[in-house]
Amino acid sequence: MSTEALGDLSAQDLRARAAEALTRARARSVALTDAVDDEDLVRQHSKLMSPLVWDLAHIGVQEELWLVRDVGGREPLRPDIDDIYDAFQHARADRPELPLLGPAEARAYVKQVREKAFDVLEHAPMEGRRLTEQAFAFGMITQHEQQHDETMLATHQLRTGDPVLHAPEPPPARSGALPREVLVPGGAFTMGTSAEPWALDNERPAHEIAVEAFWMDTVPVTCGAYTEFLDGGGYDDERWWSLAGWAYRQDNGITAPRFWKREQDGWWRTRFGVYERLPADEPVVHVSYHEAEAYAAWAGRRLPTEAEWEKAARFDPATGRSRRFPWGDEEPAAEHANLGQRHLRPAPAGAYPAGASPTGVHQLIGDVWEWTSTDFHGYPGFAPFPYREYSEVFFGPEYKVLRGGSFGTDAAAIRGTFRNWDYPIRRQIFAGFRTARDAAPGEVG
Ligand SMILES: [Fe+2]
Repeated sequence: MSTEALGDLSAQDLRARAAEALTRARARSVALTDAVDDEDLVRQHSKLMSPLVWDLAHIGVQEELWLVRDVGGREPLRPDIDDIYDAFQHARADRPELPLLGPAEARAYVKQVREKAFDVLEHAPMEGRRLTEQAFAFGMITQHEQQHDETMLATHQLRTGDPVLHAPEPPPARSGALPREVLVPGGAFTMGTSAEPWALDNERPAHEIAVEAFWMDTVPVTCGAYTEFLDGGGYDDERWWSLAGWAYRQDNGITAPRFWKREQDGWWRTRFGVYERLPADEPVVHVSYHEAEAYAAWAGRRLPTEAEWEKAARFDPATGRSRRFPWGDEEPAAEHANLGQRHLRPAPAGAYPAGASPTGVHQLIGDVWEWTSTDFHGYPGFAPFPYREYSEVFFGPEYKVLRGGSFGTDAAAIRGTFRNWDYPIRRQIFAGFRTARDAAPGEVG
């Protein structure tokens, strides 16, 4: 469905679309929380994460705040718990000490909120207020729930014990015939969006930006390629690391990507409770920005800027237009990208030829979030919406932008313009990277 088509939807179609998206998100939240017992739900599996039962009730609280109270103008269900589930009030490490709703209570609460939200959806006008225009608030809450589902999936990865999540294997590698890198032409292109109905404030507005011609890796850096850096002593050679990156590596004793272990016969990893040999042709995941940056320096390359990433993902040289996705304007389907926890791992390099960009870059959407070298800032003309805490309070040099989504990101929460951000030391997220380099004058053509 194109951007324009979504803009043309009737109020009834918008309601159906929002209901479908909310229902899909809830099915996933339920699956992620039903997969473990109550003891596991309330336990903190890592200081980096909330207990799963916190995420679940927090999803309900946000839905109550925005859809039931704000859009619907209804009476609060549980005003007493607003504070407990305010992410800005309590750091993740402190959340287990809060008087949280228990598993049964949390499940009943989110169910009750959802019933009210659906009632609001049925009756709310889809215009007149920016919050309800094109069902924006419902899209925002859908994305919020899906983002917490991805966070809960990361908690599952940190959890120890037998595997509880299961999914089919992704499609096979097809990188044999692919070139190592592709040339993305220089010049101006449209970055960001003013038309995408459910785009968040930080993706707006659309604006022209020029980039020089550059070469981009055709596929994300694989475990096999990364192992060469590791086995070549990359983690012990200060030359490849930034000052901050080296300090981070030293202070934390970082010697490999998170969840990796060296055995006598090579590298192994733990993935959702399964201990397995590292797959050489799969994109590397669970690396910090610092590690990605060091690898790129070792390879004689660099990380792409955010603008370069978006140009590679959206720019169509034939039309001069920016697409919604690398493959075009239609919503992601199974043949385009590895999204939505359909598989419990990144797919091997080249597994999605139908998802390639016009210039021939593969797997920009799905598989692994990709670190860019750009700090998180607002675009020219940025306006916070619906509140400053959505994005604006995070603007600054502390955060690096990640793009493209991972195998744990749902299609509702990703597009060519979507921006994620995190600290450069983060490794529990499903983040990998690809590298780039400037095009030499003779290479531009
Ligand atoms: Fe949240």
